[in-house]
Amino acid sequence: MRTRVLGKDLEVSAVGLGCMGFTHAYGTPCDENEAAQSIISAAEMGYTFFDTAECYIGTRADGTTTYNEELVGKALAPIRGKVKIATKFGVHHEGRQLVMDSHPDTIRKAIDGSLKRLGVEYVDLYYQHRIDPVIPAEEVAGVMSELIRKGKIKHWGISETDEEYLRKAHAVCPVTCIQNRYSMMARGYEQLFPVLEELNIGYVAFSPLANGFLTDAFKKGETFTDGDYRSFMPQYTDDGYEANRELLTLLRNLAQDKNATPAQISLAWMLCKKPYIVPIPGSRKTARLEENLKAVDILLTDSEFKAIDEKLNNMKMSAVFGVNQ
Ligand SMILES: NC(=O)c1ccc[n+]([C@@H]2O[C@H](COP(=O)([O-])OP(=O)(O)OC[C@H]3O[C@@H](n4cnc5c(N)ncnc54)[C@H](OP(=O)(O)O)[C@@H]3O)[C@@H](O)[C@H]2O)c1
Repeated sequence: MRTRVLGKDLEVSAVGLGCMGFTHAYGTPCDENEAAQSIISAAEMGYTFFDTAECYIGTRADGTTTYNEELVGKALAPIRGKVKIATKFGVHHEGRQLVMDSHPDTIRKAIDGSLKRLGVEYVDLYYQHRIDPVIPAEEVAGVMSELIRKGKIKHWGISETDEEYLRKAHAVCPVTCIQNRYSMMARGYEQLFPVLEELNIGYVAFSPLANGFLTDAFKKGETFTDGDYRSFMPQYTDDGYEANRELLTLLRNLAQDKNATPAQISLAWMLCKKPYIVPIPGSRKTARLEENLKAVDILLTDSEFKAIDEKLNNMKMSAVFGVNQ
């Protein structure tokens, strides 16, 4: 498996596994044994980088609660030393609303809770899930230094950060990577590339398939079950499919030219763009885990991905969940 280095020395598989969907955001949580089996299969295929969060909590069909961190920790326990586990603090859900809380005492409690649910002694990468507007970056970074000193975390990162916050935080405690949304439909954070290069910070790309839309596996009129966030995402509306026709055609054509799938083209495009980008697509299906991982074998030349960007720059697209809404 090809690997990438985030920041100074966090070596991870070039494609990581986003574990959120096993319990959260895509309808009723999976059967836990099946989810654990998928995670183990992913590790056998070569994934060494697994992404979870304190707030990826689901409600099973029988009304009981399931914690993503518990599921991930249990599945990976036999191979703990061979994998990197990333989790996140600082956010909880109230309905569809995200509530931020990065008060230092909240973080200290959060890490202990995460370590317990994961069943590990330390977390490899600990992200602030969202910036808390009332807590300064320097204060959060100070707590991260403390957690590193205590051996509870090895590295830290920030999700959905901007340049100013990142610089302030990095000055106090070096940031290993950011985790921001990034896909062919959400390219706004390309503006951070210069600062990431200046400070040697990696970019973990979340929702790299635009929540599955860029796989071309869905059709206009698709319906989703209760609790599946895709039912209200703009890219999945009838208007969204109309607006994104040209994008899907581009993906299909590229996939045909490269003997690949649209999902692989979407991931290969960002992998070829910068050596410090690591996408973390999520899937509950073993065949798709393998398909996504194999995106590392698809090479796009400089001129090929420049031509793709040129087309994307000038293409009409719908809004995508999380941006332009
Ligand atoms: N930091 C943050 O705020 C944040 C926010 C969102 C997500 N994340 C992280 O990023 C990870 C991935 O993001 P995401 O789930 O939002 O979006 P994504 O990876 O862009 O899309 C996931 C969706 O695509 C489908 N899919 C994946 N591979 C496929 C393939 N090859 N063919 C067809 N369908 C495929 C999956 O369905 P199936 O399961 O049915 O295959 C799932 O519904 C999450 O698991 C989470 O760890 C972080």
